[in-house]
Amino acid sequence: MAAKIMTWLDERLGLTGIYNTVLDRKVPKVNWWYTLGSATLVLFLLQAATGIFLTVYYVPSPDHAYESIQYIMNGVAFGWLIRGIHHWGATLMVITVVLHMLRTFYMAAYKYPRELTWMTGVVLLLATLGMGFTGYLLPWNQKAYWATTVGTKIAGSAPFLGTFVERVLRGGSDLSAVTLARFFSAHIWFIPAVILLVLGIHLYMVIRIGISSVPHEDD
Ligand code: HEM
Repeated sequence: MAAKIMTWLDERLGLTGIYNTVLDRKVPKVNWWYTLGSATLVLFLLQAATGIFLTVYYVPSPDHAYESIQYIMNGVAFGWLIRGIHHWGATLMVITVVLHMLRTFYMAAYKYPRELTWMTGVVLLLATLGMGFTGYLLPWNQKAYWATTVGTKIAGSAPFLGTFVERVLRGGSDLSAVTLARFFSAHIWFIPAVILLVLGIHLYMVIRIGISSVPHEDD
């Protein structure tokens, strides 16, 4: 019965074709360093899933943000677990994405014909760091408030556009409800949208061109 349903779906959706292209494609003999891109991908999906659950109880306003997090930690069933995974997942994702970048750089995987994979990767790196920066403010505790005060001040110290960027990030001269609203919407809508789009191109390139093999001295 299950086989019949699968054949029926396969005829219409071309599942075998998708499976062969995405999961059963030929890859060169590689090593563990080549798993870091997939590890980052798994962490990204985990962050998306736990983040969606967190938005059920999190309230992005200065009056309620802190309490809503306390409620997630102490009142919601498994809230501490979901938040814990989201917190540590974020740290791990930054580590894996940086290691993934170092591996592709060290093994010269950015060279022809993978320049676009590298360029989309640069956007993904910046977006991942942006997710960390915007997410850090959301608990609206002392650490979050002052870290963002310092972070936005650093942006403000850049020549020419610095002051403008600082004002745009803060939504005024100081951190306020506007800053929290901006960081929240950047964290759950704008940056994830960029990541989804650019990640789609990144992975399309990986599948279309295939991954590089371990470079040798005479390459
Ligand atoms: C959200 C972040 C990212 C995800 C989910 C991701 C995912 C992946 C995956 C699954 C692969 C194939 C397996 C592998 O080689 O590890 C890959 C390959 C690649 N990635 Fe990323 N990546 C990300 C960020 C980056 C960054 C920051 C860079 C560099 C600036 C980068 C550059 C590359 C390159 C050049 C390849 C081709 C590697 C090869 O052919 O050997 N990626 N990526």
